[in-house]
Amino acid sequence: MINGNTRTCGLIGNPVEHTMSPVIHNTLADMLSHNLVYVPFSVEEGGLKDAIKGAFALNLLGLNVTVPYKSKVIPFLSGIDDLAQKIGAVNTLVRNSEGFAGYNTDMPGLYRAMCSEGIEIQGQDVILLGAGGAARAVAFLCALKGANKVYLLNRSLEKAVVVAEEVNSKAGRECIYPMALAEYRQLPEKSFLAIQATSVGLYPDTDRAVIEDQDFYSRIHTGYDLIYKPADTKFMQLVKKQGGRAFHGLKMLLYQGVIAYELWNHVSVPEETALQVYEILKEKMGIRELL
Ligand code: ATR
Repeated sequence: MINGNTRTCGLIGNPVEHTMSPVIHNTLADMLSHNLVYVPFSVEEGGLKDAIKGAFALNLLGLNVTVPYKSKVIPFLSGIDDLAQKIGAVNTLVRNSEGFAGYNTDMPGLYRAMCSEGIEIQGQDVILLGAGGAARAVAFLCALKGANKVYLLNRSLEKAVVVAEEVNSKAGRECIYPMALAEYRQLPEKSFLAIQATSVGLYPDTDRAVIEDQDFYSRIHTGYDLIYKPADTKFMQLVKKQGGRAFHGLKMLLYQGVIAYELWNHVSVPEETALQVYEILKEKMGIRELL
């Protein structure tokens, strides 16, 4: 019930119409009996600074930030967490006395999702597909969590080189190796964890994978696609066809939300509550997991 004590959180981005975040946060608030509502705010390019100022003036408790503002929002914050600073992207704002402090919950969200699926990063040889914003966060995760070698494959080699140099230097270890996507045949003969962080295969363009050669997939023991729409991507299908385990990105979405919720409310969300929210998310998206 919304009343005089209700606190507001929300999402700023453009577009925001298709977001699943209200489902995550409003369900959590319901389950944990917090007097909180979460709403999407579509913010026009050029209106970002005013939106942050206005959110503070309106006493909003916190915000999520999505495309295209994850980096652009940084100059308007009153502080930034170390990890978000390193990654160069912020997806969660937490109110403090002077304004909003920026955090990145995408990376820890992916880590929590991988842990909950029993996927190891420590000591693994990893293929990371893509060098955009999402891939950068994954590259940091792999570097910070002790991956052995990470082959960063991207269509444009230059972008892969830039991301690899930056992550290696900020993480303080040389473990990211940039490669052109077209050179995937030169990967060493090993068994890999592969993380798909390009936009290829995303709805409605569901019949494509960034690499479609079956031979490539025979070396992948586990494939993790950051895409969750569709919930069974072409990449995942190719991994499974060659005997590997494959996962979509909906749990990452869940946990980035759970971690943001924890930051705003100073609580720790019980795992069974998070998994109940996950079931509701899957239902809303029409996902039926074939186990
Ligand atoms: P995000 O923030 O979601 O990571 P992004 O920064 O636009 O989005 O990055 C998109 C990624 O998908 C990039 O790695 C891009 O490759 P380039 O850097 O070469 O553009 C990759 N990508 C998009 N379309 C692609 C395609 N048709 N083939 C191969 N890679 C593609």
